Amino acid sequence: MPDDERDGARGALSDERVSPPASFVEQANVAEPDVREAFDADWPECWARAADLLDWDSDYDRVLGGGGPPFRWFEGGSLNASANCLDRHLDERKNQVALQWEGRLGESRTYSYLDLHREVNEFAAALRDLGVEEDDVVTLYLPVVPELPIAMLACARIGAPHSVVFAGFSADALATRMDAADSEYLVTCDGYYRRGAPIHQKNKADNAAIERDGDVEATVVVDRLGGETPLGEGEHDYDDLVTEHRGADVEPVPRAASDQLFLIYTSGTTGEPTGVRHTTGGYLAHAAWTSHAVLDLRPEDTHWCSADIGWITGHTYTVYGPLALGATTMLYEGTPDHPEKDRVWDLIERNAVDVFYTAPTAVRAFMKWGEEHPEAHDLSSLRLLGTVGEPINPRAWKWYHDHIGDGECPVVDTWWQTETGGMMVSTLPGVDDMKPGSAGRRLPGVGAEVVDADGEPVEPGESGYLVLTRPWPGMPLSMAENEGWFADHGPVRPSLERFDWAYFTEDGATVDEDGYVTLLGRVDDVVNVAGHRFGTMEIESVLADVEGVAEAAVVSGPDDTKGEAVYAYVSAAGGVDEERLRAAVNDAVEDAIGGIAAPDVVVFTPDLPKTRSGKVMRRLLEAVTHDDDLGDTSALRNPEVVGELESALDGLR
Ligand code: WT7
Repeated sequence: MPDDERDGARGALSDERVSPPASFVEQANVAEPDVREAFDADWPECWARAADLLDWDSDYDRVLGGGGPPFRWFEGGSLNASANCLDRHLDERKNQVALQWEGRLGESRTYSYLDLHREVNEFAAALRDLGVEEDDVVTLYLPVVPELPIAMLACARIGAPHSVVFAGFSADALATRMDAADSEYLVTCDGYYRRGAPIHQKNKADNAAIERDGDVEATVVVDRLGGETPLGEGEHDYDDLVTEHRGADVEPVPRAASDQLFLIYTSGTTGEPTGVRHTTGGYLAHAAWTSHAVLDLRPEDTHWCSADIGWITGHTYTVYGPLALGATTMLYEGTPDHPEKDRVWDLIERNAVDVFYTAPTAVRAFMKWGEEHPEAHDLSSLRLLGTVGEPINPRAWKWYHDHIGDGECPVVDTWWQTETGGMMVSTLPGVDDMKPGSAGRRLPGVGAEVVDADGEPVEPGESGYLVLTRPWPGMPLSMAENEGWFADHGPVRPSLERFDWAYFTEDGATVDEDGYVTLLGRVDDVVNVAGHRFGTMEIESVLADVEGVAEAAVVSGPDDTKGEAVYAYVSAAGGVDEERLRAAVNDAVEDAIGGIAAPDVVVFTPDLPKTRSGKVMRRLLEAVTHDDDLGDTSALRNPEVVGELESALDGLR
């Protein structure tokens, strides 16, 4: 297949450069051509520009305290995130729409800044009444309904870190995360609709409670389905609570800049999800600054970030970034092809969306559905387009640029991670030329290099490992406090000795003469399915427990739309029916993690490829899955298995 035809993580680099139109540059929030140099010359003080976008209860003494870890961004400063997202906007724009919600069944709800402020206050008062104190972790297990950002901001108001668990995760996954966070408070809903069918979220929450060792002090239930939900002891109806606290005023609790704002779980190399704790000052400054400089947001804009709020992207670019800047943020509960394949364009037209931020997976799906869908709508309100979560191949990039942006909107391909809190590598739309397929340069103030195994910079065009070489405001507490490196070390570790401090991102990359970074995918055992991250070990450990599975290995495989897919190689115990086992494997992953992590392809094999010492040779499985050159197979104990794997795969594709 020619490279350009190939959709997916390994998109080809193109030589093309696209300049942002002069009309965009003229109005851009950040347009100084030498902004990166200016930040470097004044590092770390340059980051005051991010902090200046916020209101502080008490000013910070130093931009970056601690010469090494523990790092303290905006040391000595205090602020409240909810006050920054709500209260400070009331004087100027209390009647402006803060949050526009579009529901799955075609309903919509509109909250002005005043409305949102009122309901956040009422729910904050309710949480306090239920016993939530400062620093108690409140778990939020909700789909994309207005009550989710309301609960997040209510938690922030009283200094209680929230832990949002993606609604599609299973009862097991919820229980694990509540236990790990020692969380005694839960906000969930009765259920919600997914492709027309109701999902009973409350049942999942009940099952999680049964599984948990910990106590649940209180559970709040949002009514989304409209039926009667019997409430047990310690369970409260959301609407009743808000009504009981009508008109309540809750003074925002001043938090130190390095106090925790929230906690979010992500997948790494180990079988257990990792809790990433983000700070109030550094994170919020990073969120606001990147929304300002990269998304070019301003108060009069309507911004739509299509990610579910259950992931970091939704935290930073649906909730905190846009609201900190006083913009209108749009929330969409549904799927992009329901009721019709023009749903997204219809929503953009009806809400006059200025900035649209989505995943390459979605762009590839739009492309497949055809340009007649966007063409049927007036998309002229759009000023800027963005992508995140996985590499975007040049063909999809160009389609997005031409058919959605009418060739006039810059497209920002933003690289970052749950751990970074906000964007780290991207073009600045008011400054940089774009190179389709490449994320762009490190953002101002960010230290990023592509290095080889010895930690030396690679030659332009050579592949290496992406390393962040300076701390940044959005760094998580877990990293700021660590001595030196952070994480959950994957199978690859470039030497980082050369740096005073550095963080290895677990991403492979190349860099060109102009400093443009092109991402090549994770080098650890993480699968990135449609921009969602799962550990192969996490899925493998579920499969290993399925009755009838003798052995299983999970690797990332190619997928035309989703970029990557979950491939499970399973050897069945004698006499087990493969079709039944396939269903059992899917059910097990759905129960333990959630449907989105279920293997896309299950390959049955009499044996897994193993080294002489009996270790599963993952590299070989990956090569077979990608139909790549197998490389050196002399270490294999059972070379005959390769042919069997190849023919099993041929039968499936
Ligand atoms: C991993 C982080 C950042 C929010 C969404 C995912 C991949 C992210 C890009 C991009 C190529 C990207 C990386 C990264 N990734 N953005 N623009 N180009 N790859 O957050 O779940 O923490 O995943 O997503 O592999 O390490 P996450």
